[in-house]
Amino acid sequence: MIIKLCLLFCNYHYLYYPNTVFQLIEMVDEKAIQVAQEKYGELLRQQLKRVEELKKEGDWVDYSKLDKLVIGVCGGDGIGPYICASAQKVMEFLLAEKIKAGKVEIRQIDGLTIEKRVEVMKAIPDDTLVELKKCHVILKGPTTTPKKGDPWPNIESANVAMRKQLDLFANVRPVSVPELGINWTFYRENTEGSYAVGSNGINVTDDLAIDFCVATTQGTERIIRAGFEYAKKTGENYVSLVTKANIIKTTDGKFLSIAEEVAKDYPEVRWDDWFIDIATAKLIDPARRSSFRVFVLPNLYGDIITDEAAQIQGGVGTAGSANLGKRYAMFEAIHGSAPRMVTEGRAQYADPCSMIKAVAMMMNHIGETEKGKKLDMALDVCVQFEKKLVMTGRDTGATGDEFAQYVMDTIKRSDLENVWQSYVDKAKASVKQ
Ligand code: IPM
Ligand code: MG
Repeated sequence: MIIKLCLLFCNYHYLYYPNTVFQLIEMVDEKAIQVAQEKYGELLRQQLKRVEELKKEGDWVDYSKLDKLVIGVCGGDGIGPYICASAQKVMEFLLAEKIKAGKVEIRQIDGLTIEKRVEVMKAIPDDTLVELKKCHVILKGPTTTPKKGDPWPNIESANVAMRKQLDLFANVRPVSVPELGINWTFYRENTEGSYAVGSNGINVTDDLAIDFCVATTQGTERIIRAGFEYAKKTGENYVSLVTKANIIKTTDGKFLSIAEEVAKDYPEVRWDDWFIDIATAKLIDPARRSSFRVFVLPNLYGDIITDEAAQIQGGVGTAGSANLGKRYAMFEAIHGSAPRMVTEGRAQYADPCSMIKAVAMMMNHIGETEKGKKLDMALDVCVQFEKKLVMTGRDTGATGDEFAQYVMDTIKRSDLENVWQSYVDKAKASVKQ
């Protein structure tokens, strides 16, 4: 009798209980979905507002026409302040006359250290952003970007925030290795893609995380146009567009279809499209890589492939990066802040070449093209060819300041152009494909 009752109860329970749990789970999920939808709606609202702002965007500022150009310098953190100070010496050396004549003003801007950013829990402290916006161009040292699990709160990257806040939509990264016939310029989209709301993904439940990728018509068109313009202006006349449009069909698909339209305005520029995986492989294919010239690509692919490209040139320490917008421009290294070099007491041996390269890009952008050319030549001579001093990251090599001095001495050489040309000719003659 007792057994019978129990069976009856269990049967009843069996029939009833799973249903309740099922209903309960369904309820919890619905709530999670609703919360996620609200957050998603807010992201969409912000992005649509951004689109409206992009529609009103003005034309490029011509820095050479300003009465006074204001250059902000912020060292960042980790090795940033060290390599930025070495690069600043080169910059001030090149602009000495204009600084003296009051045509160029250099402003030191603090506040981008990880300690300060964490203190105010902002990617860029408000007062620092106000100061940055008073400048025309910025020389910026690397800044620590926290990730989940770091001792720092997981705040947004200062780089990414600055690119978005100052609307620096084109991340231009040149890579050249004359002896391998390599002469590439990357036009990486810098304000959209997986970075646009990279710090605002949604953990819908404990088991489901969703990130978002953004492509707007305006944002896509302007970066593709910038790449084609560059290819046309330099006479390179060849653009390779890189996406993964076969898989990321909506945003990368948009990138590709807008390229098809923009390309029609540049009949003299040949172009082709590549998927990111095979493009990455082709950068190390000796039979193919020397024919590439200008790459245009969405944010994340650009981030990844430019590190690979820089490595082929000699390492990320050798490549500079220009972040260009129509109103502001920021110049930086392509690598991070290497905090370990600081804790190990090696910060003064950190390689400043990436930052010095960024200074050369700044010279070109502000209309000082002769100075930019000289600095580029001096860097090639010092880093790739003559190598009187080498950077090893330790006391076995030069300090950043010693290297900067070597670069400045090389700029002063009256035979610089001839010396550079003969090294390049020799290198080209030895091209091994
Ligand atoms: C770069 C860097 C940055 C990026 C980091 C530091 C946020 O890797 O400039 O390529 O991912 O864009
Ligand atoms: Mg990177």
